Amino acid sequence: MDVRGVRCRLRAGGADRAGDVPHPDRAARRSWRTGHCGHCHRDGAAVIRAGVIGCGNVAGNHASAYRDLPDTELVACADVDPARAGEFAARYGAAATSPAEIFGLGLDVVSVCTPHPTHEAVVTEAAAHGVQVLCEKPIAIDLGAAARMIEACERAGVTLGVLFQRRFWPASQRIRAAIDDGTLGEPVLGHASVLLHRETSYYTADAWRGTWKTDGGGVLMTQAVHNIDLLQWFMGDAVEVHCSHTAFKHGDAIEVEDTAVATVRFASGGLATIAASTALTPGLGTRVQVTGRTGATAGLAEYPEGSEARLDVWAVPGQEAVASPFGAGLAEDLTLARINGSLAPFHALQIADFTAAVRERREPAVTGREAAKSLAILTALYASAASGRPEAVPALGKEITR
Ligand SMILES: NC(=O)c1ccc[n+]([C@@H]2O[C@H](COP(=O)([O-])OP(=O)(O)OC[C@H]3O[C@@H](n4cnc5c(N)ncnc54)[C@H](O)[C@@H]3O)[C@@H](O)[C@H]2O)c1
Repeated sequence: MDVRGVRCRLRAGGADRAGDVPHPDRAARRSWRTGHCGHCHRDGAAVIRAGVIGCGNVAGNHASAYRDLPDTELVACADVDPARAGEFAARYGAAATSPAEIFGLGLDVVSVCTPHPTHEAVVTEAAAHGVQVLCEKPIAIDLGAAARMIEACERAGVTLGVLFQRRFWPASQRIRAAIDDGTLGEPVLGHASVLLHRETSYYTADAWRGTWKTDGGGVLMTQAVHNIDLLQWFMGDAVEVHCSHTAFKHGDAIEVEDTAVATVRFASGGLATIAASTALTPGLGTRVQVTGRTGATAGLAEYPEGSEARLDVWAVPGQEAVASPFGAGLAEDLTLARINGSLAPFHALQIADFTAAVRERREPAVTGREAAKSLAILTALYASAASGRPEAVPALGKEITR
């Protein structure tokens, strides 16, 4: 995937930055799927009609991307809370509908921005209506649900993508390229650190957060899943983990973990460590680092949380470079709205890749099966913390029946 190409496409739609500029000519246009009615886009391509389900914190990143992409129209949004849907629709220039009605509008693609445990029901409903579906991370909170979602989409011939927008940072792409072109060699040692700040009110504001049943886990499931995804994208299939977790800041409000450490063993023989917490004040952002068989190391740092990660270590013989993420001093902790808002350009890149994949009838950059790999690692991490022993990473294949 060429990130620069996707950026050019965003700019071609008149947006300097995702969310900045509403796309002109929003009148009825020809649907990509049905091919009927209205006008074609100026390049003759039919327009992709998009919807957003779940109008909470992250949904605006999806709505603004659909609104700004040149070949895409944000048609409708839906939420179980009609007031939320109404406000959101007014803000982004879409029709407010209910989850039951939205699939009657002839959408081509839909983003699922609802809480984790509802992803399965909404994604399978989209598949049943033949609507291509882009689901927020984590794909689900248990592998059985993930397998059913993948199966439903495959059976319906519907494309399933899952949001892991941190893969679209140029720094992530550069590390992946350095693995592919042999600069690093096969990755053998990795590290992911996720050292974040959350107020306890973050967990108490929404009833679904902080319980095993509805959140599926704590910092590992909801925040570190991005960095675990990067780690496995760089290092390959994980086979065994050993994990320990606790809740030492938010424990009075949540039953899940706010802090965890773990080791991971990969099929290649490579090893990695993970440290994750939402108990820091101030937060220190995230890092992912990989050392290859050549001995060379590359690392990226996201500081403050939500900003574009930069390569902070490039320890390749002859090309050594290092940059401290804290060079400008420590920043104040940001609000969740600021963190989510600053992720929007990378949501926009992944959403542009997804709509292009739908149009070109190819796989998106992150498929449901790819997203299930981080969930499989999470499943083993929680099993290991519960058993006190190393646990094997389960294979998704065992969950899929056909
Ligand atoms: N990619 C990222 O960086 C990122 C960032 C934030 C959140 N997320 C993910 O996005 C998802 C939503 O997170 P959030 O923080 O926006 O949550 P939120 O609680 O702020 O919003 C969820 C919205 O979905 C609505 N909803 C609940 N069940 C629904 C259903 N069945 N149908 C329709 N609407 C429903 C709620 O009323 C609410 O408005 C989570 O899975 C989360 O992990 C991803």
